[in-house]
Amino acid sequence: MHLLPVMEGLHSAEAFTQPFVAEFLELVRQVERRPEKFADALRGKVIATIFEEPSTRTRLSFESAAHRLGAGVITVADPKTSSVVKGETLRDTARVIGGYADLLVWRHPHDGASRLAAQFAGVPVVNGGDGRLGHPTQTLLDLYTLYKKWGSFEGRVVGILGDLLHGRTARSLAWGLTMMGASVVVLPGPGLDWEPGFESRILERYGYRLARLSHSLFKEWTGSEQARVLEPKGLVQGRLFQGDAPIVERLDALYLTRLQDERGAGEQSAGVFPGLKAHQLQAPILKDTFFLHPLPRRDEIPEFVDADPRAIYFEQARLGPIVRQAVFLAMLCSEHYSLPPLRPLPSGDAEHSMGACPNPSCITHFEGMRPPWRVEGRIRWIFLCAYCDTALQAHYVGCRSSRRVHPAHSPQVPKIRPENLRPFADRESAIAQGFRWGGG
Ligand code: NCD
Repeated sequence: MHLLPVMEGLHSAEAFTQPFVAEFLELVRQVERRPEKFADALRGKVIATIFEEPSTRTRLSFESAAHRLGAGVITVADPKTSSVVKGETLRDTARVIGGYADLLVWRHPHDGASRLAAQFAGVPVVNGGDGRLGHPTQTLLDLYTLYKKWGSFEGRVVGILGDLLHGRTARSLAWGLTMMGASVVVLPGPGLDWEPGFESRILERYGYRLARLSHSLFKEWTGSEQARVLEPKGLVQGRLFQGDAPIVERLDALYLTRLQDERGAGEQSAGVFPGLKAHQLQAPILKDTFFLHPLPRRDEIPEFVDADPRAIYFEQARLGPIVRQAVFLAMLCSEHYSLPPLRPLPSGDAEHSMGACPNPSCITHFEGMRPPWRVEGRIRWIFLCAYCDTALQAHYVGCRSSRRVHPAHSPQVPKIRPENLRPFADRESAIAQGFRWGGG
């Protein structure tokens, strides 16, 4: 299985490692304290920003960051002015623009676009938001904002509220916070929860457990008094028991998000979209809670909240260029600012008979490609699309070395080494490929 080289770019918050983020946050702190020290760090380099979806903050903060480091910037701010409208594939666009710049920042409407672009660009690609999948530099910015307040994430409890199904900032942040040791209270608007497989991967990766907490405020937001919480297994918290779920007494931060209409969220939402209301601001659970939002906001944070000392979303937005300066330094100046490696994401294996990726927003559908698969950690019976992380339908799994095929749920399957796995949609295609029936 081919692995992407480590600093080929920044595609997913799930590729972060704890040492990487810890040192990255320190680098941001240096940039914030002594900006003049970095004024020429990228002299002679060219950054391309390619934004195939609307953006104000992300594109301008990346461009501001590039200018502050002395780099030149070329940009596609509106895809209608580029060859995308002529039907050019992402692969070809990446190949071409990769020859014009030293690093590409790419925003794209489809899940997994950044990972695909990185395979063809030949220069580092930084994901500026791809579909609903991820927005890793927003997460670095969110983490830095909280790091400045807290110094460390362990023991902190953060609620993520709103459109979790379509919100890439929410998904990336869930990876980032759990990786840093915080607990995440999952607060989806009605009908807008992320899929269970997403959460299971986080739990498995970081040794977290799924617990339930209750609070009357949750009912106003999600329709249920109980909320799921992703928390470190070792955590022992003093909790007040009442009914079948402990009551949560405080949230250290609440991350609000808007309804993502452009991804069809309006049709999927099954009730009133949650946000902060005047009477909620007095609730003891929110007494020392920082309010964050990636912006743009809609009605989920009324303007009267802006003057509240707990509201830090504009401070968060102001840190955008500084955090993105550090992203460029980490990607392009690794001889001076060498950070611990990111976790390599396998580019996947296209050999299988599993059919198309079930996620209609996956980049493979728009590029006429079969979804390459990867497996994660010890979970060897779930085959994920290597671009968008959606589970592919593998009903049978073969072992390349024994040439035997088993049903996907067979106890034999977890014993197969990852490099020997070969997924099939049905038994017949396995037999046709020369595999023998190995039983269940
Ligand atoms: C977010 C995005 O584009 O995902 N915006 C941003 O980058 N600050 C959030 C959003 O648009 O809702």
